[in-house]
Amino acid sequence: MQDELKLLGGAMVTLALATSALVVVPHVQLRNTEPPAALKPYTAQQLRGRQVYIENGCVYCHSQQPRDKSQAPDDQRGWGRASVAADYYYDTPHLLGTMRTGPDLFNIGARQPSADWHLGHMYQPRAYVPGSIMPSYPYLFDVKDAAEPGDRVVNLPPGFKPAGKVVVAKPEVLDLVAYLQGLDHTYPVLPAPKAKGGQHVAK
Ligand code: HEC
Repeated sequence: MQDELKLLGGAMVTLALATSALVVVPHVQLRNTEPPAALKPYTAQQLRGRQVYIENGCVYCHSQQPRDKSQAPDDQRGWGRASVAADYYYDTPHLLGTMRTGPDLFNIGARQPSADWHLGHMYQPRAYVPGSIMPSYPYLFDVKDAAEPGDRVVNLPPGFKPAGKVVVAKPEVLDLVAYLQGLDHTYPVLPAPKAKGGQHVAK
């Protein structure tokens, strides 16, 4: 019986330590985080586009967390400054991502503002980036004989247009592109104070 009690006690202590380190301490540190003045809440369309991003698994290949210079040359790659907690104020669930099969997209709206480019790239990434391994998303488009009033026709580079047809963007992809265009966290943030013990905090 003695041993069982020790085992149980040990397990409870370990669990309590892990919970405080992973849940309680971060909550106390971040609970007063305010949104940066320059960060706009998502529009209804952008929120729908965010859902399309989730449903299509974009997060499995794209991160949204540029890192500090000391960790990776993300700044030189043009992906922007290291992100801070406040940048994610409106994000539920967050889409930090862990894989970088493709570039980080946290500032894609600033880097690539063109809706035409995004639409064409979603229809066929290789039309813009030869040899790209990004999947194409043809089911987000309709291929029609002729455009109807109100259709958003996609302007594709020569050679990528289906012969004699037009490619029309579905509402889902228009929402997705609005979301991507809104991903712009290039506003400056004040450097966070140094954490106790000289631990490094994002610049
Ligand atoms: C299998 C991995 C993979 C998936 C899934 C994927 N991508 Fe990509 N993506 C890439 C790669 C690789 C590149 C770089 C080559 C290129 O631009 O096509 C890229 C490039 C991009 C770019 C251009 C980035 C830049 O800096 O120019 C955007 C925007 C983008 N992807 C959006 C998306 C969206 C939105 C989705 C989900 C609908 C998605 N990707 C799904 C791999 C992926």
